[in-house]
Amino acid sequence: MLHRPRRTRKNAIVREMTAETRLSRDMFMYPYFVTHGKDIRRPIAAMPGINHFSVDELLKDAERGLKLGLNKVLLFGVGEEKSDDGHTAHSGSSVVPQAVKALKERFKEDIYVVTDVCVCAYTSHGHCGILEDGYVQNDASVELLSKMALSHAEAGADMVAPSDMMDGRIAGIRDTLDAHGFSNTGIMSYAVKFASAYYGPFREAADSAPQQGDRKSYQMDFRNGREALKEALMDEEEGADIIMVKPALAYLDIISAVRDNTLLPVACYNVSGEYSMVKAAAAQGLVDEQKIVMENMYAFARAGSNIVITYHAMDILENGWL
Ligand code: PBG
Ligand code: ZN
Repeated sequence: MLHRPRRTRKNAIVREMTAETRLSRDMFMYPYFVTHGKDIRRPIAAMPGINHFSVDELLKDAERGLKLGLNKVLLFGVGEEKSDDGHTAHSGSSVVPQAVKALKERFKEDIYVVTDVCVCAYTSHGHCGILEDGYVQNDASVELLSKMALSHAEAGADMVAPSDMMDGRIAGIRDTLDAHGFSNTGIMSYAVKFASAYYGPFREAADSAPQQGDRKSYQMDFRNGREALKEALMDEEEGADIIMVKPALAYLDIISAVRDNTLLPVACYNVSGEYSMVKAAAAQGLVDEQKIVMENMYAFARAGSNIVITYHAMDILENGWL
């Protein structure tokens, strides 16, 4: 017999030597839900192990992460006053800019702060833009999102991450940031974001579910792979610094195709539903949490993700699973 692939599986040493995929803690970004108030660390029922944090508590938890080497965070604002025009989304006194300021003041360049830019947690209708006659208006929404991104940049965000899926928003945000002197503020585009049932737990966590209808007129149809490349290449062209694919687990083919077709770093977002399914199955003893989480992480890296945004990051580093 000429071929015996089992030779390089014989023991742990040879398996480690020949492993094709490596993971590093530098690849992980950790999402946080931030809310106004003090001393708040409120568990989110739909996402076991994940909390709403007031800024003071966020600082403590971020410090815990930093000690483990978890130095990239993605911030979401929760509990802000909602309105039809979503104006609290770009107010400097909203909780996200406040949290950015506090994190950068406290940890300076030791932490890299990314903010989610979308208005669905700030609009009374819960859509990711301006709603008129039952349709989310594209260009007016891009203006609103650009203002929101600017307010985060002014607070000191290292990078903004638009998650709305309006057309042309990367160019709009890039122009706005540059015009105000923020040419060094990066953009991680949720370039390939599918309309997905996997966001269910997040919408409870962020109180951002659409009050009417769904997000299918702006987020992508999950049957489309070629269109995913179109979105990725458009955002590269418009000035994105990182291209994200979301969700991750059911979309490994998309991650792989995007990795092969852009020169930018590729991130994947291991979303709330993917997280909560693993946590629920592990809590019932149906799967081994450590093993299943790490198998998923390696799958993201093998598919081509350079960056993994995951609610599991703190568990992975705290428990030494890497
Ligand atoms: C807001 C936003 C969503 C997520 C990130 N930003 C929800 C949505 O689009 O409905 C999902 C994150 C997750 O499920 O973990 N536009
Ligand atoms: Zn949104």
